[in-house]
Amino acid sequence: MGKFDGKVLAVAGGTSGINLGVAKHFAAEGAKVFTFSRDPEKVEAAVEALRAIGPAAEGMSVDVRDYASVEAAFARCAEVFGPIDTLLSGAAGNFVAKAADISSNGFRAVMEIDLLGTHHVMRAAGPHLRRPGANIINVTAPQAQVAMVGQAHVCAAKAGVDMLTRAYALEWGPEGIRVNAVSPGPIADTEGVRRLMSAERLAQNEQSHIPLRRMGVIEDVAELCAFLASDAASWITGTVIPVDGGLLLNPTPHRMAEMLEG
Ligand code: NAP
Ligand code: COA
Repeated sequence: MGKFDGKVLAVAGGTSGINLGVAKHFAAEGAKVFTFSRDPEKVEAAVEALRAIGPAAEGMSVDVRDYASVEAAFARCAEVFGPIDTLLSGAAGNFVAKAADISSNGFRAVMEIDLLGTHHVMRAAGPHLRRPGANIINVTAPQAQVAMVGQAHVCAAKAGVDMLTRAYALEWGPEGIRVNAVSPGPIADTEGVRRLMSAERLAQNEQSHIPLRRMGVIEDVAELCAFLASDAASWITGTVIPVDGGLLLNPTPHRMAEMLEG
């Protein structure tokens, strides 16, 4: 018997990296998974991988910036699987650039994917969440709490995601819906880390500033999400929980500058 037998997980941005890894963890524990992102080939591959692990999976090609298509995705999810038990919202975009070098469109792209996209996903999923009992997990980042060189757009967007998490938790708590966020530190073998750190720096013991002295792995994040989705977390809402080996105790905001300066 799996921990999530009979449960439904919907994942925004769930076709690669951390979010797909969390989806696989839930599928292996019995959850039916509905996943979506922009690239139809990634959606198809993710659905296939999830079907091989769990009871059922479906997906759709959706850009979280387009509210109508996010609504259509949740309508389809409800049609095939019924009410959602856990919603994981983790679509995001990142690149390294100093604030003064980020064009209006570049800043807007990240704000619209990370922050507006999180609102779109929660709002459009709303009517399809199991009431009472559903829970939402947003994926934020340390940039929400620590200013980093080359990350002004992401710092602003993810700080917004943290606050949106609290605001929705406040409003939807009375309906029996919990809303939390997870904040991963650097997770090995992910696009996020590839974009932020050179292979050279990764090879040079990037974990030296992390108190627990290792990079994270996707399973570290999946275990936290599984806890937040479980009955053991039934009185936890409006929190942002780091899963980062203690990174926030010893942040190194200057580090991105090394990449920008070559
Ligand atoms: P990733 O593999 O690039 O995951 C991002 C996902 O979002 C992909 O499935 C991507 O698929 C989707 N996506 C991007 N833009 C989208 C859009 N406009 N509409 C719909 N889907 C979209 O990166 P990752 O590193 O695993 O990051 C996953 C999450 O963890 C992000 O929220 C990130 O901020 C957070 N995080 C990562 C790290 C890390 O160490 N990697 C650390 C802290 C936080 P498509 O390209 O098909 O759209
Ligand atoms: N430095 C400065 N600006 C950049 C940039 C960089 N490295 N990369 C992109 N931009 C700017 C572009 O120049 C463009 O602005 P402009 O029109 O003024 O020139 C703007 O960002 C949008 O770029 P575009 O490629 O058209 O956007 P998109 O919507 O197709 O993609 C991104 C969004 C840029 C966030 C893209 O990196 C992406 O899709 N990322 C998803 C995957 C990811 O980042 N994963 C890690 C998650 S932590």
